[in-house]
Amino acid sequence: MNSRPKSMIAGTGSAVPEKVLTNADLEKIVETSDEWIRERTGIERRHILEDGLTNSDLAARAAEQALKKAGLTPDQIECLIVATITPDMGFPSTACAVQSKLEAFNAAAFDISAACSGFLYGLIMGDSFIASGLYKNVLVIGSEVLSRMTDWEDRATCVLFGDGAGAAVLVPSGDNRGLLSAYMKSDGRLGYLLNCPGGGVTYPASHETVDQRLHFIKMEGREVYKHAVRTMVDAAVHSLELAGLTAKDIDLLITHQANKRIIHAVVQRLKLPDEKVFINIEEYGNTSAASIPIAMNQAIEEGRLKEGQLCLMVAFGGGFTWASSLVRI
Ligand code: ACO
Repeated sequence: MNSRPKSMIAGTGSAVPEKVLTNADLEKIVETSDEWIRERTGIERRHILEDGLTNSDLAARAAEQALKKAGLTPDQIECLIVATITPDMGFPSTACAVQSKLEAFNAAAFDISAACSGFLYGLIMGDSFIASGLYKNVLVIGSEVLSRMTDWEDRATCVLFGDGAGAAVLVPSGDNRGLLSAYMKSDGRLGYLLNCPGGGVTYPASHETVDQRLHFIKMEGREVYKHAVRTMVDAAVHSLELAGLTAKDIDLLITHQANKRIIHAVVQRLKLPDEKVFINIEEYGNTSAASIPIAMNQAIEEGRLKEGQLCLMVAFGGGFTWASSLVRI
């Protein structure tokens, strides 16, 4: 990639539901314990969307904040991308629902499906649109309501996930701020390790698919864990190499928040000190495509990430997909 960035993040925002589900609450639902969940995952709480609200409601709230901070009005957005695996419905896209709620009527709106890597896929796509001259202002949102795809009888998965949304506004970069590198990869052979089989055209909704609980997330946790560490290290190393930098140069690492142990394993391999790593999994659990933009927004709001600093963002998710981007904030 060229060293001069083509697009930069002009504003970020996030939205999480008020309702909180603690590990103690989960002890009443499945055979588990607060101690097991904390030790194995680092998660203490997760936020659950209230009945009657949907993915695009959360996404629109996060987007409104990001637009405000970027100093843009909704009608100035030319492209609106929502990364999600928990869309409002099969179609139309959640992005079109968000467009309607924001009244961003000058935008082309569409969803992308790359699981937990979705936000970075969207960010890199938005950067490419701006670099090509097709669009100037792009809104990228990662938004998930995983609680409605979670099997609340499966203790191996239900303790992991939460709901939330995060957003970023991309605009052309006039200086050295912005995306310095971009890296995206997939391996469809590993799709069977983490998926939600029901509801598509392979297993359209029927009494049988509901009885077989096919509309819930299925995961082979140990296998996913191994690939998560391998792919996130691969992604981190590639983004640094593409930018001609090393791990020592970065100010903050934000990884997908799937499991604290996975994050620590990645950090150890990159030889980064703890103070350069942002972790908020204890509060939100795994919010898939929303986890990186929620974390980025929080890091900026807390002053952990300041203008001009270098942030390495790294994700992996179902597909498998993995991605990274080094961004000067
Ligand atoms: N409470 C108590 N015990 C549990 C629970 C629970 N919630 N879940 C599983 N166990 C038990 C198992 O039954 C097993 O018992 P056994 O030894 O008697 O058979 C034991 O705990 C160990 O189970 P493992 O699955 O081997 O536990 P592990 O240490 O691997 O931790 C975990 C499980 C947390 C799921 C881990 O494997 C992990 O984080 N994997 C990656 C998950 C992930 O990153 N997913 C990404 C999803 S992102 C996306 O794209 C949507």
